Amino acid sequence: MKPNAPFITFEGIEGAGKTTLSRWLADWLSAQHIPTRLTCEPGGSELGNALRQLLLHNPTDPLTELFLFLADRSHHVRTVILPALTQGIWVISDRYTDSTLAYQGYGRGLDIETLRHLNALATDHLNPDLTFLIDMPVEQALARTTQPNRFEQEALAFHQRVRDGYLQLAESEPHRFVILNGNQPLESLQQQIQHALHAKGFLSNPHPLGVPCP
Ligand code: TYD
Repeated sequence: MKPNAPFITFEGIEGAGKTTLSRWLADWLSAQHIPTRLTCEPGGSELGNALRQLLLHNPTDPLTELFLFLADRSHHVRTVILPALTQGIWVISDRYTDSTLAYQGYGRGLDIETLRHLNALATDHLNPDLTFLIDMPVEQALARTTQPNRFEQEALAFHQRVRDGYLQLAESEPHRFVILNGNQPLESLQQQIQHALHAKGFLSNPHPLGVPCP
């Protein structure tokens, strides 16, 4: 199975606004008559939803937690993401491999290179074409969350490590990542996302004023 459409992910700490923006992008693309599948991790499939419940509500040690996220991802890629991409359907995922590097790696202290190998195994090397990192100060982002889950209840220092980790990941892959300041009006963030899709060549640029003569 070979991907035949863009694969776009949204990443960031809790409360930064990924979920709102990923939903908006999926709706906007659909309104442009672009076939789009919105999905998320953990979750995104029936098995994934069961794993999500386990992950969000059962404290475990870092390695057990890691393997549950990887099980979710492996199943998600094979049953949801790849089948959609091979049919030419755009896939927008709210979290993916970078969440594991940021949370289990930078947050919990597991070895980053090992996590990269395990991510590659779980995804069969399927990497996003474009990743939006929604960044904002930890205190502000957490203040936006309601009914905190097991991860959101972690100490501020944990979230700070996760945020810093995300920024390092983004710096190391500038062609894939677009960092957006989550502290901006929604419309401005939406425009920046549209701009990035044009810049990537994912959207054909309409010429509303006609095409210049050669
Ligand atoms: P969720 O309710 O989906 O939070 P959010 O809306 O912020 O995405 O909870 C998912 C939690 O799982 C979130 O705190 C981040 C964490 N997570 C990891 O630690 N590793 C991972 O690989 C993934 C996908 C998520």
